[in-house]
Amino acid sequence: MERLENKIKNATSLEKLEEVRIEIFGKKGILAAEFAKLKTIPNEQKKDFAKQLNEKKAALTKLFEQKKKELEAKALQEQLKSEALDLSLFSYESKTGALHPITQTMNKIIDYFVALNFSIEEGPLVEDDFHNFEALNLPKNHPAREMQATFFFKDGNLLRTHTSPVQIRTMQKDSIPIRMIAPGAVFRRDFDLTHTPMFHQVEGLVVDKKGKVSFANLKFILTDFLRYMFGDVDVRFRPSFFPFTEPSAEVDISCIFCGGKGCRVCSHTGWLEVLGCGEVDPNVFEAVGYEDVSGYAFGLGVERFAMLLHQVPDLRNMFEGDIRLLEQFK
Ligand code: PHE
Repeated sequence: MERLENKIKNATSLEKLEEVRIEIFGKKGILAAEFAKLKTIPNEQKKDFAKQLNEKKAALTKLFEQKKKELEAKALQEQLKSEALDLSLFSYESKTGALHPITQTMNKIIDYFVALNFSIEEGPLVEDDFHNFEALNLPKNHPAREMQATFFFKDGNLLRTHTSPVQIRTMQKDSIPIRMIAPGAVFRRDFDLTHTPMFHQVEGLVVDKKGKVSFANLKFILTDFLRYMFGDVDVRFRPSFFPFTEPSAEVDISCIFCGGKGCRVCSHTGWLEVLGCGEVDPNVFEAVGYEDVSGYAFGLGVERFAMLLHQVPDLRNMFEGDIRLLEQFK
């Protein structure tokens, strides 16, 4: 009896106590073995033996429960100690981030065209001459190549100067009807208040059977899009030139700062130029082997949109990662 009591008393942890419990109280334990003896002892001794045994069991059970409580309390103390938090420790102020204004602007543009079922296409940033120039009706030595100050690699490849090569890649991989936009980074050797060597464009291209897509469609969709972006503005299409569109136009909105009266931002013209567009030049269709189709395309600079929407005067601010600028765009 004392031996069993000591077993319980000497248990140093809940795990050890559990082992002892099984040894003493378990189905094949010491007590069970004692009770089994009842079967074999003479009847007149049975009563006493059983009584003693039950008392023994009750005493051991009581001791066991006590010990268990004690060890549980001890385990809890240890846990509290090891998991304690020092609330006096210095902590850093946590700040929530925000999407960069260019990303926000890009997302807003993408939302418009996705709602109209345009697909989103991507192309490589390192392009070949064919996709960036040749197929876009910009043959070698064409003076219009100079319009886009290009970063060239030694092997003749280049950093794409616009997202227009994605027009070519999409026409090569898909067939009509095509209704796509291509958002992404582009690169030019330019650096001043309104130009950075890397910036972002969103290209648009719609192609369908000849006669199904017209300049009128282009005018409608871009006017609607610009009012979605800038609110209730006037929109005008000015004849222009791009090698890959014919006819081509540049699109202006009435100045969102002065309402068209003329101010510093619009150089006192009352108008802000926001994108380029036109009907796809037949030479472009020829380069990708398309026949009996018509289409329109447009391209816009995301940074310019973001600067206008958020009135950021110096584009370079957008790329400095200054938290004070970014905090204004939460
Ligand atoms: N790729 C032209 C640019 O970067 C923009 C453009 C795209 C113009 C599509 C017309 C049609 O300036």
